[in-house]
Amino acid sequence: MPTVVVSGIPIHYELTGSGPTCLCLVHGAGGSTGVWVRQLEELADIAQIVALDLPGHGQSGGRGCDRIEDYVKVVRGFLDATGLVKVVLCGHSMGGAVAQAFALAHPGRLAGLVLVGTGARLRVLPKIFELLERDYPEGVRFISRLAVSPGAPEVLVESLISQTLNTPRPVLLGDFRACDAFDVMARLREIPTPTLVICGTHDQLTPPKYAQFLQHHIAGARLELIAEAGHYVQLERPDETNVALRELLTAPGEKR
Ligand code: COA
Repeated sequence: MPTVVVSGIPIHYELTGSGPTCLCLVHGAGGSTGVWVRQLEELADIAQIVALDLPGHGQSGGRGCDRIEDYVKVVRGFLDATGLVKVVLCGHSMGGAVAQAFALAHPGRLAGLVLVGTGARLRVLPKIFELLERDYPEGVRFISRLAVSPGAPEVLVESLISQTLNTPRPVLLGDFRACDAFDVMARLREIPTPTLVICGTHDQLTPPKYAQFLQHHIAGARLELIAEAGHYVQLERPDETNVALRELLTAPGEKR
């Protein structure tokens, strides 16, 4: 279980694969490296794959943040501490907000950007805050059911619920506050990084409209809409997600 210390906080990460290209994976609200299990397992033959637990999440220490900018500082510190000079940064949901903000602040550190189930503005349903405050397990169940397509296997929903329940309530509430305040809709044209946007057609938390907005406003961005998948597209449709990632990571002539 590798760990590095970033601003005094132990940050846990998973690492597979090797090579000159590095894909760095950032989970979303209440998540952990666990949401990238299929990418860590199945892309290791083509690149170094690194997934971190943000503070307060998974096996990392600390308390979590309630501003996207603070998570950007953690990711920057993590890359410095692990000696990763240039990466393809891939974020899911809130992690996608962190990735966009990182691309705006530190474009020189990125060889590519992948935005999975996310948007340039992430307002949160007031009902989510109310439920999480009133009855945490019920709130987590509500979000987890919204986060998959109607046809998703029950075992996936149950595993999302139990993974998310491992995140303390104040951490998840902080994550959603960070999302709710996030808005870079007017700044996307400043992102110079080659970008891939991935979204499930049945995503109810960050609908395809958000992904299309990202594609239209980030210069040269490519959009991969994945059928029959909800918000956790990388867990629901890992094969299709990995085909898109593999294509990006092995683009001929590009050293990332
Ligand atoms: N990309 C493109 N368009 C976006 C956008 C994004 N990231 N975020 C908002 N918009 C659009 C909306 O579709 C809406 O367009 P419309 O006026 O044509 O309908 C407009 O901008 C304003 O939307 P919003 O800022 O979200 O305010 P709202 O009061 O209309 O809706 C919510 C608030 C919370 C109901 C809504 O944002 C929502 O349903 N969010 C998804 C559910 C959720 O909680 N997701 C969690 C994200 S972490």
